[in-house]
Amino acid sequence: MSETLYGYYQQQEILPTHGAFKSTADLAPHERHRRRLFTDKLKLPPALFRGARLLEFGPDAGENSLVFAQWGADCTLAEPNPKAHPVIREYFQRFGLGARLSALEAWDVKNFPEPTTDAERFDLVDAEGFIYTIQPTDLWVQKCARLTRPRGMVVLFYYELCGGFLELMLRVVHARHRALTGLDAVASARALFQTKWDSIPHKRRLESWTMDVLENPFVRLKYFLDPGALCEQMAAAGLWYYSSWPSYDGGLDVHWFKRELPGAERLRQQKDFIRRSRLSHLFGRKHFLAQVEDDFEPRLLALLAGVDGLIDQFSPERAERLATEMTVLEAGLRAAAPLAAPADTEWSLQTVASLRQLLRVLAAGEAAAIARFCNEDRAFIETWGMPSHFAVFRRAEAGEG
Ligand SMILES: C[S@@+](CC[C@H](N)C(=O)[O-])C[C@H]1O[C@@H](n2cnc3c(N)ncnc32)[C@H](O)[C@@H]1O
Repeated sequence: MSETLYGYYQQQEILPTHGAFKSTADLAPHERHRRRLFTDKLKLPPALFRGARLLEFGPDAGENSLVFAQWGADCTLAEPNPKAHPVIREYFQRFGLGARLSALEAWDVKNFPEPTTDAERFDLVDAEGFIYTIQPTDLWVQKCARLTRPRGMVVLFYYELCGGFLELMLRVVHARHRALTGLDAVASARALFQTKWDSIPHKRRLESWTMDVLENPFVRLKYFLDPGALCEQMAAAGLWYYSSWPSYDGGLDVHWFKRELPGAERLRQQKDFIRRSRLSHLFGRKHFLAQVEDDFEPRLLALLAGVDGLIDQFSPERAERLATEMTVLEAGLRAAAPLAAPADTEWSLQTVASLRQLLRVLAAGEAAAIARFCNEDRAFIETWGMPSHFAVFRRAEAGEG
């Protein structure tokens, strides 16, 4: 296995996120989507990028970088996969943004040169789609802190602990089906997930998703980040939670606007909100827990670990056991019901029933039945969870806490 995610991508024939934009008609919808995401969800409107010194780690083909450049940012791009460089350069020329490309280098996060002055630091540091693969986490957290100017922002997009549960399930199904049929990765994905894949709007091909999710050795539990721990580690490095999607700060707290909550209290509230949002993250629907039982989190984590374990080594007995252990999800969903839309509760309960049945179909070991289930079961087809989260952190100024 490759030691780095970019090493894995270098071995592939396709870039993981390349949308092959030809004209402004292709770029415009992407810009619009990013503008809405950054303005409405992350509270970072495009005006904030005008004249900003921006560092983007891991831009891949550079489609997000083009949008930052359109918003007026001066972009330094650090992309360790050299295969992406000609694509990025061509893109910036094609869209008349060459003057905004300040630098494009093959640095990875670890070896990016250390700045010594604020002039060399950045107003915005963006790392989307890979940062969770770098371990230990503190290595890149500290690096981001050193690279960001006071009051500057760090934007992350990462695989989240509970949100990744359904991705792990997909990987179990894919691995089991491949073992039973001997099909190659893409052929197996097509047989199993074409209906599911076609049910959502996306700009990538099934081949790219297969490489980037179903076969990617980094889409595993040991890499998924717990947002509570992330907020804590970032805060310790002077990077305070600013915004995220989904939100880690549900806005339930009410106090006089002149009162400034100490950082430690804000952090405590965020961690509490995250703990109560585990099922919302897992199902990608609103299942906020008013009450969290003591054994809820350990049981949930055991379920995640059990599913992750089936990817490498499928065992019908363990699959049967996990099907039974899904009761932790049902109990949680029922406890969260008063605050959820009834349709969401119903739909997620159906998802649990569907996953339980899926584990049993996998245990039975008949490839055609597995493919049939995956192409016909509505709850399975329409549930994706919330595997990837955006989180934005703001570097504190001197004396702030
Ligand atoms: C999944 S792609 C995401 C591309 C783009 N940021 C997006 O979100 O659409 C991840 C990118 O990160 C790069 N990458 C992986 N590990 C990295 C590292 N340690 N430092 C910098 N970039 C890295 C990969 O080469 C790849 O281009």
